Amino acid sequence: MTINKTRIALFCSGSGSNFKALFQAIKNKQLAAEIVLCLSNRAQCGAMEFAEQNAIPTLHITEKQFGTFDEFAEAMVYRLKKHQIDIILLAGYMRKVPDAVVAAFAGRMLNIHPALLPKFGGEGMYGIRVHTAVLEAGETETGATVHFVNEEYDKGEILLQRRVPVLPGDTAETLAEKVLECEHTLYPDALEQLLSILNA
Ligand code: GRF
Repeated sequence: MTINKTRIALFCSGSGSNFKALFQAIKNKQLAAEIVLCLSNRAQCGAMEFAEQNAIPTLHITEKQFGTFDEFAEAMVYRLKKHQIDIILLAGYMRKVPDAVVAAFAGRMLNIHPALLPKFGGEGMYGIRVHTAVLEAGETETGATVHFVNEEYDKGEILLQRRVPVLPGDTAETLAEKVLECEHTLYPDALEQLLSILNA
């Protein structure tokens, strides 16, 4: 009997370390899922390179290629349907996902954020800024959050969180490193949970 694997699209703009961790974890955990598309606003980035090296189809798509934002959104939905995508995982995607895509994938799109949401989230809160804000606020712990995506930045329902202690001597850079490492196990665990929710 052949089991239909859940078809995943990764949306990335950067180094793609979460993409790599997810790709490896799907193999290691033997999840009934497959990454079948890497979508990016950048023609070249670590994530796109990794996809190419592993024969995963890539899609470079940006607003600039279209006359209007609506046309861009429509094209994105069309391409995702064409690739028969079941789940979207945002992993360092630095663009707003069009509302039409969010609506088409309600309950089937996750994002990972390098802090304990609802703290330190929202527009402009990304990269090293998050960790600087955590230190400035005198937090004793930080971490990472995987949440469902809705129309508001970092506001969708939380699926899974993992904590990372803030230790004396930590800098924004050391926190960034520790939180990213934590993300690499958190995101695969969250994917596993989503798959069991969807297949229940
Ligand atoms: C991660 O810190 C993630 O939380 C944030 O963007 C970063 C992506 O890193 N949304 P990478 O490209 O997966 O290495």
